[in-house]
Amino acid sequence: MWDQRYDREDYLFGKAPAAFLADRAEVIPPGSRVLCVADGEGRNSVFLAGLGHAVTAFDASGVAVEKARKLAQEAGVAVDFNVSGIEDWDWSRPFDAVVGIFIQFVGPDMRATLFEDMARAVSPGGLLVLHGYAPRQVENGTGGPPQRENMYTEDLLADAFAGWEILRSADYDAIIDEGPGHSGQSALIDFIARKPA
Ligand SMILES: C[S@@+](CC[C@H](N)C(=O)[O-])C[C@H]1O[C@@H](n2cnc3c(N)ncnc32)[C@H](O)[C@@H]1O
Repeated sequence: MWDQRYDREDYLFGKAPAAFLADRAEVIPPGSRVLCVADGEGRNSVFLAGLGHAVTAFDASGVAVEKARKLAQEAGVAVDFNVSGIEDWDWSRPFDAVVGIFIQFVGPDMRATLFEDMARAVSPGGLLVLHGYAPRQVENGTGGPPQRENMYTEDLLADAFAGWEILRSADYDAIIDEGPGHSGQSALIDFIARKPA
């Protein structure tokens, strides 16, 4: 399904990073090892590589990863791109920051596993950087899956990462313009947390 969605000339979510990431990227210390989970066509990984981070990215869609490689080439940056599902990724590889932007393709059961895996991939003292939709986004219809249960709340994320230092937790409405895939009035959640050292 994702290969078909990405099989188009333009970039489904645009070539610019998510507005959240552009605004908040400075929280990631210079020269970090960063993992971008379900990175799609590379807009976020390419942006982070441009800031000087050592970026690894993966996505299940080979079509998306091919477009991501082109975007990195255009930008003149290197990213270690991989075609992989969350089910196959080697989560024992450590990173200083693990970034998940609009990765709400999982329901509650798989999300619990995914969050545990992502937490494992963050080095002690490292960062988790998450951005997605709140449940009321389903009524907006401007992006994201139609399942309310796939969406995040601040409480859900605080529970999932209990014991972590929360650097940002926010639930807000904004108009975003992130390609034909994510555009218009949106109900958003940001969550940035530091793993105990
Ligand atoms: C809404 S898109 C977001 C892409 C990217 N993070 C961004 O912000 O542009 C969700 C992404 O999840 C990927 N995806 C779906 N199921 C996946 C899975 N099981 N493992 C890894 N990636 C998956 C899709 O291919 C798609 O690129």
